[in-house]
Amino acid sequence: MELSTGFGLSERLVKPNCFLNDGAFDWLYPERIQRLSRRHWTPLGVAKASARFLANAPGKRILDIGSGVGKFCLVGGHYNPDALFFGVEQREELYDLAMDARNMTGKFNVDFIHGNFTHLDMDDYDNFYFYNAFFENLDHQDRIDHKIEYSQSLYVYYCKYLFKVLDAKPSGTRLVTFHSLGDEVPPAYHLVDCSVDTLLKMYIKK
Ligand SMILES: C[S@@+](CC[C@H](N)C(=O)[O-])C[C@H]1O[C@@H](n2cnc3c(N)ncnc32)[C@H](O)[C@@H]1O
Repeated sequence: MELSTGFGLSERLVKPNCFLNDGAFDWLYPERIQRLSRRHWTPLGVAKASARFLANAPGKRILDIGSGVGKFCLVGGHYNPDALFFGVEQREELYDLAMDARNMTGKFNVDFIHGNFTHLDMDDYDNFYFYNAFFENLDHQDRIDHKIEYSQSLYVYYCKYLFKVLDAKPSGTRLVTFHSLGDEVPPAYHLVDCSVDTLLKMYIKK
């Protein structure tokens, strides 16, 4: 006989404590990935506030461009069960870890895609989260790994590509950037909120 907990199947799969703080969340991953956390994965408070802004209506489809091990999407999906969170990640190892964490936490309103964001059909998504994924092309320190090609021209290419994609989206599209230099944000996106240190920015397209 099964004990009634009052929770559905997905709730019973959840490790509820992993959403308590950043340290607890890191425990979903191997030690090497935990060590990258402070520098490369969105802090829990930032993910929570950003996801709330992007999930502005039920059924919204939100894309994290460069989703790493899935932290933004998983936190977003946990606190916004009526929205759908997608992450695209170019590194297969990180994509695999994101899928494992998704399955461990039972966040089935979250999904991940392995590949380069330039291969996606952006018409499939309403709102966007961007934790300066392209900066690794300019930064010579603190890289996630040395398995991919980095270059300044890739940085420029990706920024221009994303700029065009965002510019083509309809009025009302929401965008959150974290640690961005702003190169990918078209002027039609109006800043509506910003953290005191200006690292986190929230925009709505005119
Ligand atoms: C700073 S991490 C942010 C991870 C995640 N968004 C978060 O907030 O926790 C940026 C990620 O973007 C990925 N990335 C960089 N360029 C990409 C591209 N062109 N297509 C897909 N992923 C990319 C990197 O591999 C890295 O995992």
